[in-house]
Amino acid sequence: MSGHSSIAPAQIRPATPADAEAVAAIYAHHVLHGTATFEIEPPEAAEIAARMAKVRAAGLPWLIAQDADGVVLGYAYAGAFHARAAYGRTCEDAIYIAHDRLGQGVGKALLAALLEACAAAGQRQMIALIAGTEPASIALHLRAGFVEAGRLASVGRKHGRWLDVVYMQRALGVGDTTAPENEPA
Ligand SMILES: CC(C)(COP(=O)(O)OP(=O)(O)OC[C@H]1O[C@@H](n2cnc3c(N)ncnc32)[C@H](O)[C@@H]1OP(=O)(O)O)[C@@H](O)C(=O)NCCC(=O)NCCS
Repeated sequence: MSGHSSIAPAQIRPATPADAEAVAAIYAHHVLHGTATFEIEPPEAAEIAARMAKVRAAGLPWLIAQDADGVVLGYAYAGAFHARAAYGRTCEDAIYIAHDRLGQGVGKALLAALLEACAAAGQRQMIALIAGTEPASIALHLRAGFVEAGRLASVGRKHGRWLDVVYMQRALGVGDTTAPENEPA
């Protein structure tokens, strides 16, 4: 009796290594068929698990959206925007929804939860690199309060096309209005 018209809100929870297979399957579709990621070879589950461990080690969130039956619908995480130390309060997001569950509000719910979790982790700015200027991703980020912060022309080449990257940015929590906690003197 689960009609397609009734969409229950996604449940959002932190990822565990057991999610690596489902995450790899979702991501593989976007790697092979889309331009939102500039990866061309889908990474295996072990590589996804390693990426999850790196995010966790950086004290950043990796979130899973699942339906009432526990089926993974999508995921979102934040990584360091740049390795250099002074970038430490600036993160970069990534969000991927299962190709058969796009446009059902899952991305919106995941991004809202990710923004909250990153602010709680002491992050002050989030950057989104919208590879291939994906319209759905630009819409998602604009709705979540991001503004466009720049564009790199023709920096990607995939599926026979030159692709731009749009930078978007949003402050987290109190942003730059106060100094961060625990700042070394
Ligand atoms: C971008 C993506 C994460 C958005 O998630 P989603 O679950 O499909 O989007 P939602 O249903 O939550 O929609 C979020 C907002 O974007 C808008 N939107 C969604 N798809 C859209 C589209 N194709 N064109 C224009 N706007 C769109 C929605 O209308 C919604 O705004 P609203 O609440 O004002 O109506 C998802 O489409 C995706 O995985 N795309 C491929 C990978 C990708 O681009 N990832 C981003 C890399 S950072």
